[in-house]
Amino acid sequence: MSITTEDLFKSLWQQYVQLNPTAEKIHTLLGRNNKVIYNDHVAFRTFNHPKFGVDHLAQTFEQLGYKARGEYEFKVKKLYAKHYEHPNTDLPKVFISELLLENFSDKLQTTFSHIAKHTSIDVRTSAGVSYSGRHWDIEYKTYQELYKESPYAAWLYTFGFCANHFTVYFNKLEGFEGLPQLNSFLKENNFQINASGGEVKGSPELMLEQSSTMAEEIEVSFSDGKFKVPSCYYEFAKRYEDSTGNLYQGFVAGSADKIFESTNKTN
Ligand code: NI
Repeated sequence: MSITTEDLFKSLWQQYVQLNPTAEKIHTLLGRNNKVIYNDHVAFRTFNHPKFGVDHLAQTFEQLGYKARGEYEFKVKKLYAKHYEHPNTDLPKVFISELLLENFSDKLQTTFSHIAKHTSIDVRTSAGVSYSGRHWDIEYKTYQELYKESPYAAWLYTFGFCANHFTVYFNKLEGFEGLPQLNSFLKENNFQINASGGEVKGSPELMLEQSSTMAEEIEVSFSDGKFKVPSCYYEFAKRYEDSTGNLYQGFVAGSADKIFESTNKTN
């Protein structure tokens, strides 16, 4: 594999800001006066098919030195996730979640078998799999049916393999006291913040606070017409020290559960 970690994240970012031009605007706004913006983590979505699950998608990251560190269950949303860390702590963590297909309707399972059949890429060896996008045709009628069962599934069906969100690492961001100040600043600049479960998810006691924008709605060409659907969102994470004095590097399932709703429709 010839791709470097830096090149991989550059390609992922380029694809991400095409789906979510808002993230680039915020990145530019926060990075004014030549400030460097560090990423806390980049998140991906997949489904628990024998060829495309979390462990499969993780392999290209593991080949670049990433190691599995934590796992998470989301019972109501019927998801499972793992996070990965790199020895170079300036590199973002990778958070990969998967839809637990067996907990959904036959119709949803059939749709995802179809997706799997049309995805010929070998996710274990293809460095670019994480930004390879969609390998199948999409229909708005199916999107709407999936959305009723799982907005997560509808998003995955529409966008395929790509970064669902990048996350600004707040601890290394200059100029703001806390996430509430950052959220106010973004709202003053007309960006919409996800308010599900409160604008700031988590707490210092949980050692992680997070907030995010609501995903922008972009026009997508489906086989039965062009429709606007929520795309990707931008997240912000502030980490606190654990009892040993080290910054907590994990995730909080209860907070992530609400953050997943950033790709829900806003109207
Ligand atoms: Ni996240």
